[in-house]
Amino acid sequence: MSTLITNVGELVTNAAPDGDPGQGPGSFAALTGAALVIDDGRVAWIGLAGQAPAADDAVDCGGRAVLPGFVDSHAHLVFAGERSAEFAARMAGQPYQAGGIRSTVAATRAAPDEDLRANLARLIREMLAQGTTTLECKSGYGLTVPDEARGVALAAEVTPEVTFLGAHVVPPEYEGDRAGYLDLVCGPMLSTCSPHARWVDVFCERGAFDADEAAAVLAAGRAAGLLPRVHANQLGPGPGVQVAVAAGAASADHCTYLSDADVDALASSGPGGSGTVATLLPGVEFSTRQPYPDARWLLAAGVTVALATDCNPGSCFTSSMPLCVALAVREMRMTTQEAVWSATAGGARALRRTDVGHLGVGARADLILLDGPSHTYLAYRPGVPLVRAVWQNGHREF
Ligand code: NIG
Ligand code: FE
Repeated sequence: MSTLITNVGELVTNAAPDGDPGQGPGSFAALTGAALVIDDGRVAWIGLAGQAPAADDAVDCGGRAVLPGFVDSHAHLVFAGERSAEFAARMAGQPYQAGGIRSTVAATRAAPDEDLRANLARLIREMLAQGTTTLECKSGYGLTVPDEARGVALAAEVTPEVTFLGAHVVPPEYEGDRAGYLDLVCGPMLSTCSPHARWVDVFCERGAFDADEAAAVLAAGRAAGLLPRVHANQLGPGPGVQVAVAAGAASADHCTYLSDADVDALASSGPGGSGTVATLLPGVEFSTRQPYPDARWLLAAGVTVALATDCNPGSCFTSSMPLCVALAVREMRMTTQEAVWSATAGGARALRRTDVGHLGVGARADLILLDGPSHTYLAYRPGVPLVRAVWQNGHREF
């Protein structure tokens, strides 16, 4: 069953006409007066509307914009409870502290599987309605062998991009025994979780894990067949980015406090697809009142930049990629093209995926129909529900 999507005002492809998705935000590409055909879950044809081939079905977009589905490459969705009181206290002047994670760990451990599954399903539906068609999901609120195993198994029910984050923080019962907790994470917890995961992550930060601990977790994860990614330089300057690059991580996430050496390391790590992507999470800075990361510095240095939500109950409880695009444009001075590229193709680079984040021929048919004539509307009309239709894998979901 093929579908012609026609009368598209602006078709954001992020791909050269030959289908090559390109390497950096400069690769943003769009066609006007375009159409595309989706068939068997893939993009089968793109071009000018007047030259489109016949299809079984047709959707007239009325001059609206069509974009690749968002790729949200950083989210913590397996949890119970909420922390709105912590947020309110923060807005009243309290600083964000990594220790808040422990309250979600306690609630998550106490929750039945069905509650966790229902919360996860609700968040994923919420994301899909806002145009997210690929998402990464971390464990990290269990921090015992059975609770982390449950976290990755539940995540694996909803996405192939599952990340084992046993090294989120040291749980209270190991307060006086960090080495013991690291042995658990790198030993039985990893071997129980790795069959359900693709990625290993560590929170490398003062108050969580230091450089040597983080490197050990990533090396153990790699030995178990997982690919590394890192929570780096979120709350202050530190070794996270360097640890990520040295480990060959696909992504260093947050990058809020960077040094010259950090930016150099990211820039010389290689192009996105083989190097380390800087994944910026502006919803966190919005929700914690920290300074935004210096996106212009990273882009000027040639670093591949992704945007993601970091959806979690503590530092940022938004599931909205459109909000992240608007924040990146308004607060981080990314151009609208850079922000949309980073929220789609950039996220795909951060997950080492070539089938999503662009709409070249052969790409997965994940697309968003916007209620506006161009991608610019995502930042121009912040807070407005502009996603009018979503196709995932060729199926219309909304
Ligand atoms: O990405 N930094 C570590 N983890 C999450 C926060 C989790 C929480 O506060 O519950 C983050 O910000
Ligand atoms: Fe995170």
